[in-house]
Amino acid sequence: MTIYLDNHATTRTDPAVIAAMTMMMESHYANPGSTTHEAGRAVSGMVDESIGKIASLLHAQRDEIVITSGATESNNLALFGVALHPKQKRRRIVSLVTEHRALLDPLDRLEKQGFEIVRLPVLSNTSALAGGVDLQRIQEAIDENTALVSIMLANNEIGTIQPVAEIAKRCRHFNVVLHTDASQAVGRLPIDVDALGVDLLSFSAHKFYGPKGIGGLYVRQSPTAVRLQPQILGGGQQWNLRSGTLNSVGIVGMAKALEIAHAEIDSEGVRQSHLRNRLWELLNERIDGLTLNGPAWEEWGLAVPNRLPNNLNICFPKVEGQSLMLELPELAVSSGSACTSAEPHPSHVLLAIGLSNDQARSSLRFGIGRFNTESEISMTADWIGRVHAKLASFAA
Ligand SMILES: Cc1ncc(COP(=O)(O)O)c(C=O)c1O
Repeated sequence: MTIYLDNHATTRTDPAVIAAMTMMMESHYANPGSTTHEAGRAVSGMVDESIGKIASLLHAQRDEIVITSGATESNNLALFGVALHPKQKRRRIVSLVTEHRALLDPLDRLEKQGFEIVRLPVLSNTSALAGGVDLQRIQEAIDENTALVSIMLANNEIGTIQPVAEIAKRCRHFNVVLHTDASQAVGRLPIDVDALGVDLLSFSAHKFYGPKGIGGLYVRQSPTAVRLQPQILGGGQQWNLRSGTLNSVGIVGMAKALEIAHAEIDSEGVRQSHLRNRLWELLNERIDGLTLNGPAWEEWGLAVPNRLPNNLNICFPKVEGQSLMLELPELAVSSGSACTSAEPHPSHVLLAIGLSNDQARSSLRFGIGRFNTESEISMTADWIGRVHAKLASFAA
Protein backbone atom coordinates (compact mmCIF):
# COMPACT_ATOMS: atom_id res chain seq x y z
CA MET A 1 0.00 0.00 0.00
CA THR A 2 1.35 3.42 -0.96
CA ILE A 3 0.45 6.65 0.79
CA TYR A 4 0.91 9.29 -1.87
CA LEU A 5 1.87 12.65 -0.38
CA ASP A 6 3.88 14.00 -3.30
CA ASN A 7 1.14 16.09 -4.89
CA HIS A 8 3.51 18.96 -5.74
CA ALA A 9 5.48 16.67 -8.03
CA THR A 10 2.35 15.46 -9.74
CA THR A 11 -1.19 14.36 -8.97
CA ARG A 12 -3.16 11.23 -9.74
CA THR A 13 -5.28 11.65 -12.85
CA ASP A 14 -8.90 12.03 -11.79
CA PRO A 15 -11.11 9.11 -13.01
CA ALA A 16 -13.52 11.59 -14.66
CA VAL A 17 -10.57 13.03 -16.60
CA ILE A 18 -9.52 9.56 -17.74
CA ALA A 19 -13.10 8.91 -18.91
CA ALA A 20 -13.19 12.16 -20.92
CA MET A 21 -9.82 11.40 -22.52
CA THR A 22 -10.74 7.79 -23.31
CA MET A 23 -13.86 9.03 -25.07
CA MET A 24 -11.68 11.35 -27.19
CA MET A 25 -9.20 8.61 -28.09
CA GLU A 26 -11.90 6.08 -28.95
CA SER A 27 -14.36 8.28 -30.78
CA HIS A 28 -12.85 11.66 -31.64
CA TYR A 29 -9.40 10.97 -32.99
CA ALA A 30 -9.49 13.22 -36.07
CA ASN A 31 -6.97 16.02 -36.33
CA PRO A 32 -8.55 19.22 -34.99
CA GLY A 33 -6.84 21.02 -37.88
CA SER A 34 -8.67 18.88 -40.45
CA THR A 35 -11.60 21.18 -40.93
CA THR A 36 -12.30 19.83 -44.41
CA HIS A 37 -14.37 16.99 -42.92
CA GLU A 38 -17.01 16.63 -40.27
CA ALA A 39 -14.89 14.40 -38.00
CA GLY A 40 -12.17 17.06 -37.85
CA ARG A 41 -14.66 19.89 -37.37
CA ALA A 42 -16.25 18.01 -34.46
CA VAL A 43 -12.87 17.65 -32.70
CA SER A 44 -12.00 21.24 -33.49
CA GLY A 45 -15.24 22.32 -31.80
CA MET A 46 -14.52 20.22 -28.72
CA VAL A 47 -11.00 21.61 -28.46
CA ASP A 48 -12.30 25.12 -28.79
CA GLU A 49 -14.94 24.59 -26.15
CA SER A 50 -12.35 23.09 -23.77
CA ILE A 51 -9.89 25.94 -24.23
CA GLY A 52 -12.75 28.40 -23.75
CA LYS A 53 -13.58 26.68 -20.46
CA ILE A 54 -9.96 26.86 -19.29
CA ALA A 55 -9.82 30.54 -20.26
CA SER A 56 -12.99 31.42 -18.39
CA LEU A 57 -11.82 29.60 -15.23
CA LEU A 58 -8.72 31.82 -15.29
CA HIS A 59 -10.86 34.91 -16.10
CA ALA A 60 -9.13 35.16 -19.47
CA GLN A 61 -10.37 35.19 -23.08
CA ARG A 62 -10.27 32.18 -25.40
CA ASP A 63 -7.64 33.79 -27.65
CA GLU A 64 -5.35 34.46 -24.69
CA ILE A 65 -4.55 30.79 -24.06
CA VAL A 66 -1.68 29.07 -25.88
CA ILE A 67 -1.59 25.32 -25.38
CA THR A 68 1.85 23.85 -24.66
CA SER A 69 3.33 20.57 -23.44
CA GLY A 70 3.39 21.79 -19.83
CA ALA A 71 4.79 24.48 -17.58
CA THR A 72 8.40 23.93 -18.63
CA GLU A 73 7.53 24.80 -22.22
CA SER A 74 5.24 27.64 -21.11
CA ASN A 75 8.06 29.18 -19.06
CA ASN A 76 10.47 28.81 -21.99
CA LEU A 77 7.97 30.45 -24.34
CA ALA A 78 7.37 33.29 -21.88
CA LEU A 79 11.04 34.05 -21.24
CA PHE A 80 12.58 33.49 -24.67
CA GLY A 81 9.44 34.76 -26.34
CA VAL A 82 9.61 38.16 -24.63
CA ALA A 83 13.40 38.51 -24.48
CA LEU A 84 14.12 37.47 -28.07
CA HIS A 85 11.28 39.30 -29.81
CA PRO A 86 12.83 41.36 -32.65
CA LYS A 87 11.28 44.56 -31.26
CA GLN A 88 12.65 43.97 -27.75
CA LYS A 89 15.07 46.72 -26.79
CA ARG A 90 15.21 46.20 -23.03
CA ARG A 91 17.94 43.98 -21.57
CA ARG A 92 17.06 43.31 -17.92
CA ILE A 93 15.01 40.45 -16.46
CA VAL A 94 14.07 40.30 -12.78
CA SER A 95 13.26 37.05 -11.01
CA LEU A 96 13.79 35.12 -7.77
CA VAL A 97 16.44 32.66 -6.61
CA THR A 98 13.68 30.28 -5.52
CA GLU A 99 12.11 29.75 -8.94
CA HIS A 100 11.78 26.28 -10.46
CA ARG A 101 14.60 24.99 -12.68
CA ALA A 102 12.18 25.31 -15.60
CA LEU A 103 12.63 29.05 -15.16
CA LEU A 104 16.17 29.31 -13.79
CA ASP A 105 17.76 27.34 -16.62
CA PRO A 106 16.25 29.51 -19.40
CA LEU A 107 17.42 32.57 -17.40
CA ASP A 108 20.98 31.17 -17.36
CA ARG A 109 20.79 30.77 -21.14
CA LEU A 110 19.54 34.35 -21.59
CA GLU A 111 22.35 35.60 -19.38
CA LYS A 112 24.88 33.89 -21.67
CA GLN A 113 23.17 35.68 -24.55
CA GLY A 114 23.85 39.06 -22.94
CA PHE A 115 20.78 39.79 -20.83
CA GLU A 116 21.21 41.20 -17.35
CA ILE A 117 19.48 38.78 -14.98
CA VAL A 118 18.58 39.99 -11.50
CA ARG A 119 17.90 37.03 -9.20
CA LEU A 120 16.47 38.48 -6.03
CA PRO A 121 16.84 36.80 -2.63
CA VAL A 122 13.76 35.94 -0.55
CA LEU A 123 12.81 36.43 3.10
CA SER A 124 14.50 33.95 5.42
CA ASN A 125 12.93 31.14 7.38
CA THR A 126 12.89 33.28 10.52
CA SER A 127 10.29 35.53 8.85
CA ALA A 128 6.56 34.74 9.02
CA LEU A 129 6.62 35.25 5.23
CA ALA A 130 9.56 32.88 4.64
CA GLY A 131 10.30 32.55 0.94
CA GLY A 132 8.38 35.73 0.13
CA VAL A 133 9.81 38.53 -1.99
CA ASP A 134 10.96 41.69 -0.33
CA LEU A 135 8.70 44.21 -2.10
CA GLN A 136 11.15 47.02 -1.50
CA ARG A 137 13.92 45.11 -3.31
CA ILE A 138 11.68 44.25 -6.19
CA GLN A 139 10.63 47.88 -6.53
CA GLU A 140 14.28 48.90 -6.71
CA ALA A 141 15.14 46.19 -9.26
CA ILE A 142 12.48 47.17 -11.81
CA ASP A 143 13.41 50.05 -14.11
CA GLU A 144 12.83 51.37 -17.64
CA ASN A 145 15.40 48.89 -19.03
CA THR A 146 13.47 45.90 -17.60
CA ALA A 147 11.90 43.71 -20.27
CA LEU A 148 10.32 41.15 -17.98
CA VAL A 149 9.64 40.28 -14.36
CA SER A 150 9.03 36.62 -13.65
CA ILE A 151 7.91 35.66 -10.14
CA MET A 152 6.22 32.34 -9.36
CA LEU A 153 2.78 32.54 -7.81
CA ALA A 154 3.31 29.66 -5.37
CA ASN A 155 6.50 27.84 -4.53
CA ASN A 156 6.65 24.12 -5.24
CA GLU A 157 8.79 23.27 -2.20
CA ILE A 158 7.69 25.51 0.66
CA GLY A 159 4.34 26.73 -0.68
CA THR A 160 5.00 30.47 -0.33
CA ILE A 161 2.36 32.51 -2.18
CA GLN A 162 3.89 35.68 -3.61
CA PRO A 163 2.18 39.11 -3.66
CA VAL A 164 2.00 39.09 -7.46
CA ALA A 165 -0.74 41.76 -7.63
CA GLU A 166 1.51 44.16 -5.70
CA ILE A 167 4.43 43.45 -8.02
CA ALA A 168 2.15 44.08 -11.00
CA LYS A 169 1.61 47.69 -9.89
CA ARG A 170 5.31 48.42 -10.13
CA CYS A 171 5.59 46.64 -13.48
CA ARG A 172 2.74 48.69 -14.91
CA HIS A 173 4.52 51.90 -13.90
CA PHE A 174 7.45 51.01 -16.20
CA ASN A 175 5.46 49.09 -18.84
CA VAL A 176 7.24 45.87 -17.90
CA VAL A 177 5.78 42.49 -18.89
CA LEU A 178 4.93 40.39 -15.82
CA HIS A 179 5.07 36.59 -16.02
CA THR A 180 4.11 34.21 -13.25
CA ASP A 181 4.74 30.47 -13.08
CA ALA A 182 1.43 29.40 -11.54
CA SER A 183 2.02 25.65 -11.89
CA GLN A 184 1.40 25.00 -8.20
CA ALA A 185 -1.42 27.51 -7.85
CA VAL A 186 -3.77 26.77 -10.75
CA GLY A 187 -6.42 24.34 -9.53
CA ARG A 188 -5.54 25.06 -5.88
CA LEU A 189 -6.18 28.79 -5.65
CA PRO A 190 -8.78 30.85 -7.49
CA ILE A 191 -6.99 32.61 -10.36
CA ASP A 192 -8.05 35.87 -11.97
CA VAL A 193 -5.43 37.12 -14.41
CA ASP A 194 -6.82 40.67 -14.23
CA ALA A 195 -6.89 40.80 -10.45
CA LEU A 196 -3.32 39.46 -10.43
CA GLY A 197 -2.35 41.99 -13.09
CA VAL A 198 -0.16 39.47 -14.93
CA ASP A 199 0.59 39.45 -18.66
CA LEU A 200 1.76 35.85 -18.90
CA LEU A 201 0.86 32.89 -16.68
CA SER A 202 2.14 29.29 -16.96
CA PHE A 203 0.16 26.24 -15.89
CA SER A 204 0.35 22.48 -16.20
CA ALA A 205 -2.49 19.94 -16.13
CA HIS A 206 -0.72 17.19 -14.20
CA LYS A 207 -0.54 19.46 -11.16
CA PHE A 208 -4.34 19.57 -10.92
CA TYR A 209 -5.32 15.91 -11.53
CA GLY A 210 -5.07 16.16 -15.30
CA PRO A 211 -2.77 14.34 -17.70
CA LYS A 212 0.99 14.85 -18.03
CA GLY A 213 2.48 16.53 -21.09
CA ILE A 214 -0.10 19.28 -21.50
CA GLY A 215 -0.34 22.79 -20.12
CA GLY A 216 -0.68 26.33 -21.28
CA LEU A 217 0.47 29.90 -21.24
CA TYR A 218 -1.94 32.76 -20.72
CA VAL A 219 -0.85 35.62 -23.01
CA ARG A 220 -2.55 38.97 -22.38
CA GLN A 221 -4.14 40.52 -25.47
CA SER A 222 -5.73 43.62 -24.01
CA PRO A 223 -5.37 46.51 -23.43
CA THR A 224 -1.95 45.75 -24.97
CA ALA A 225 -1.02 42.43 -26.55
CA VAL A 226 2.20 40.85 -25.25
CA ARG A 227 4.66 40.37 -28.11
CA LEU A 228 6.17 36.88 -28.12
CA GLN A 229 8.71 35.36 -30.47
CA PRO A 230 7.48 31.80 -31.19
CA GLN A 231 9.85 29.05 -30.06
CA ILE A 232 8.39 26.13 -32.02
CA LEU A 233 7.88 26.61 -35.73
CA GLY A 234 5.82 24.49 -38.06
CA GLY A 235 2.24 24.32 -39.21
CA GLY A 236 1.27 27.74 -37.89
CA GLN A 237 -1.27 26.52 -35.33
CA GLN A 238 -2.28 28.77 -32.43
CA TRP A 239 -1.76 32.04 -34.29
CA ASN A 240 1.76 30.90 -35.21
CA LEU A 241 2.75 31.15 -31.54
CA ARG A 242 3.13 27.43 -31.00
CA SER A 243 3.00 25.16 -34.01
CA GLY A 244 2.13 21.49 -33.86
CA THR A 245 -1.08 19.45 -34.01
CA LEU A 246 -3.15 20.36 -30.99
CA ASN A 247 -3.20 17.63 -28.34
CA SER A 248 -6.98 17.30 -28.46
CA VAL A 249 -7.08 14.42 -25.97
CA GLY A 250 -4.93 16.31 -23.49
CA ILE A 251 -6.83 19.57 -23.95
CA VAL A 252 -10.19 17.93 -23.21
CA GLY A 253 -8.63 16.19 -20.20
CA MET A 254 -7.06 19.40 -18.92
CA ALA A 255 -10.34 21.32 -19.20
CA LYS A 256 -12.21 18.58 -17.35
CA ALA A 257 -9.53 18.54 -14.64
CA LEU A 258 -9.66 22.30 -14.16
CA GLU A 259 -13.44 22.28 -14.05
CA ILE A 260 -13.44 19.67 -11.27
CA ALA A 261 -10.67 21.46 -9.36
CA HIS A 262 -12.60 24.74 -9.48
CA ALA A 263 -15.87 23.17 -8.39
CA GLU A 264 -14.20 22.09 -5.14
CA ILE A 265 -11.48 24.71 -4.75
CA ASP A 266 -12.82 26.13 -1.47
CA SER A 267 -13.84 22.86 0.16
CA GLU A 268 -10.58 21.14 -0.83
CA GLY A 269 -8.54 24.13 0.37
CA VAL A 270 -10.17 23.84 3.79
CA ARG A 271 -9.95 20.03 3.89
CA GLN A 272 -6.34 19.80 2.73
CA SER A 273 -5.16 22.57 5.03
CA HIS A 274 -6.83 20.72 7.89
CA LEU A 275 -4.99 17.51 6.94
CA ARG A 276 -1.72 19.42 6.59
CA ASN A 277 -2.14 21.04 10.02
CA ARG A 278 -3.07 17.68 11.52
CA LEU A 279 0.06 16.04 10.09
CA TRP A 280 2.21 18.79 11.57
CA GLU A 281 0.52 18.34 15.01
CA LEU A 282 0.81 14.56 14.97
CA LEU A 283 4.47 14.64 13.96
CA ASN A 284 5.21 17.18 16.70
CA GLU A 285 3.57 14.87 19.23
CA ARG A 286 5.95 12.09 18.14
CA ILE A 287 9.22 13.92 17.44
CA ASP A 288 10.93 16.68 19.43
CA GLY A 289 12.71 19.52 17.68
CA LEU A 290 10.92 19.67 14.33
CA THR A 291 11.18 22.96 12.46
CA LEU A 292 8.82 24.24 9.83
CA ASN A 293 10.38 25.29 6.53
CA GLY A 294 8.47 28.08 4.81
CA PRO A 295 5.84 30.57 5.95
CA ALA A 296 3.65 30.22 9.01
CA TRP A 297 0.09 29.58 7.95
CA GLU A 298 -3.14 31.28 8.86
CA GLU A 299 -6.36 29.39 9.35
CA TRP A 300 -7.20 28.61 5.72
CA GLY A 301 -9.76 30.92 4.17
CA LEU A 302 -9.63 33.63 6.84
CA ALA A 303 -6.82 35.86 5.63
CA VAL A 304 -4.99 36.50 2.40
CA PRO A 305 -3.22 33.14 2.19
CA ASN A 306 0.56 33.14 2.20
CA ARG A 307 1.10 29.39 1.92
CA LEU A 308 -0.49 26.74 -0.28
CA PRO A 309 -3.11 24.89 1.79
CA ASN A 310 -1.62 21.49 0.99
CA ASN A 311 2.06 22.19 1.55
CA LEU A 312 4.16 21.08 4.50
CA ASN A 313 7.96 21.11 4.57
CA ILE A 314 9.74 19.98 7.70
CA CYS A 315 13.32 19.82 8.91
CA PHE A 316 13.87 16.73 11.08
CA PRO A 317 16.50 16.72 13.83
CA LYS A 318 19.50 14.37 13.46
CA VAL A 319 18.15 12.36 10.51
CA GLU A 320 18.48 12.92 6.75
CA GLY A 321 15.30 13.10 4.70
CA GLN A 322 16.74 10.53 2.29
CA SER A 323 17.27 8.04 5.15
CA LEU A 324 13.67 8.44 6.30
CA MET A 325 12.46 7.86 2.75
CA LEU A 326 14.64 4.77 2.30
CA GLU A 327 13.10 3.22 5.41
CA LEU A 328 9.58 4.07 4.23
CA PRO A 329 9.27 2.94 0.61
CA GLU A 330 5.46 2.91 0.86
CA LEU A 331 5.42 6.63 1.62
CA ALA A 332 5.65 8.88 -1.44
CA VAL A 333 7.12 12.19 -0.30
CA SER A 334 10.07 14.17 -1.52
CA SER A 335 13.29 15.06 0.22
CA GLY A 336 14.90 18.46 0.55
CA SER A 337 17.43 17.24 -1.98
CA ALA A 338 16.54 17.65 -5.63
CA CYS A 339 18.00 14.60 -7.36
CA THR A 340 18.83 16.29 -10.60
CA SER A 341 21.95 14.17 -10.99
CA ALA A 342 23.62 11.15 -9.42
CA GLU A 343 24.88 13.54 -6.75
CA PRO A 344 21.91 14.81 -4.74
CA HIS A 345 22.19 18.56 -4.15
CA PRO A 346 20.45 20.19 -1.22
CA SER A 347 17.36 22.10 -2.35
CA HIS A 348 18.22 25.61 -3.64
CA VAL A 349 14.92 26.83 -2.17
CA LEU A 350 15.74 25.66 1.35
CA LEU A 351 19.25 27.13 1.10
CA ALA A 352 17.73 30.40 -0.13
CA ILE A 353 15.61 30.76 3.03
CA GLY A 354 18.75 30.29 5.12
CA LEU A 355 18.90 26.59 5.94
CA SER A 356 22.35 24.98 6.10
CA ASN A 357 23.24 22.10 3.76
CA ASP A 358 22.65 19.67 6.62
CA GLN A 359 19.27 21.17 7.51
CA ALA A 360 18.21 21.07 3.86
CA ARG A 361 19.26 17.44 3.63
CA SER A 362 17.24 16.68 6.79
CA SER A 363 14.04 18.05 5.29
CA LEU A 364 11.01 16.43 3.72
CA ARG A 365 8.26 17.96 1.58
CA PHE A 366 4.69 16.73 1.95
CA GLY A 367 2.06 17.63 -0.63
CA ILE A 368 -1.48 16.72 0.40
CA GLY A 369 -3.97 15.99 -2.37
CA ARG A 370 -7.59 15.33 -3.26
CA PHE A 371 -7.34 11.60 -2.65
CA ASN A 372 -5.67 11.71 0.77
CA THR A 373 -7.64 10.77 3.86
CA GLU A 374 -7.42 11.49 7.58
CA SER A 375 -6.39 7.90 8.29
CA GLU A 376 -3.49 8.15 5.81
CA ILE A 377 -2.29 11.23 7.68
CA SER A 378 -2.34 9.39 11.04
CA MET A 379 -0.58 6.41 9.51
CA THR A 380 2.09 8.64 7.98
CA ALA A 381 2.76 10.30 11.34
CA ASP A 382 3.02 6.86 13.01
CA TRP A 383 5.40 5.51 10.37
CA ILE A 384 7.66 8.55 10.42
CA GLY A 385 7.62 8.76 14.24
CA ARG A 386 8.73 5.13 14.53
CA VAL A 387 11.43 5.28 11.85
CA HIS A 388 12.74 8.63 13.08
CA ALA A 389 13.14 7.25 16.63
CA LYS A 390 15.09 4.28 15.27
CA LEU A 391 17.39 6.33 13.03
CA ALA A 392 17.93 9.05 15.64
CA SER A 393 19.00 6.40 18.17
CA PHE A 394 21.75 5.27 15.74
CA ALA A 395 22.83 8.88 15.30
CA ALA A 396 22.99 9.53 19.05
C1 LIG B 1 6.67 25.62 -10.11
C2 LIG B 1 6.85 24.66 -11.24
N1 LIG B 1 7.19 25.13 -12.45
C3 LIG B 1 7.34 24.31 -13.50
C4 LIG B 1 7.18 22.94 -13.38
C5 LIG B 1 7.37 22.07 -14.58
O1 LIG B 1 6.13 21.64 -15.03
P1 LIG B 1 5.95 20.55 -16.19
O2 LIG B 1 6.22 19.25 -15.55
O3 LIG B 1 4.55 20.69 -16.61
O4 LIG B 1 6.89 20.89 -17.28
C6 LIG B 1 6.84 22.42 -12.13
C7 LIG B 1 6.70 20.97 -11.94
O5 LIG B 1 7.58 20.30 -11.45
C8 LIG B 1 6.68 23.30 -11.03
O6 LIG B 1 6.34 22.84 -9.82
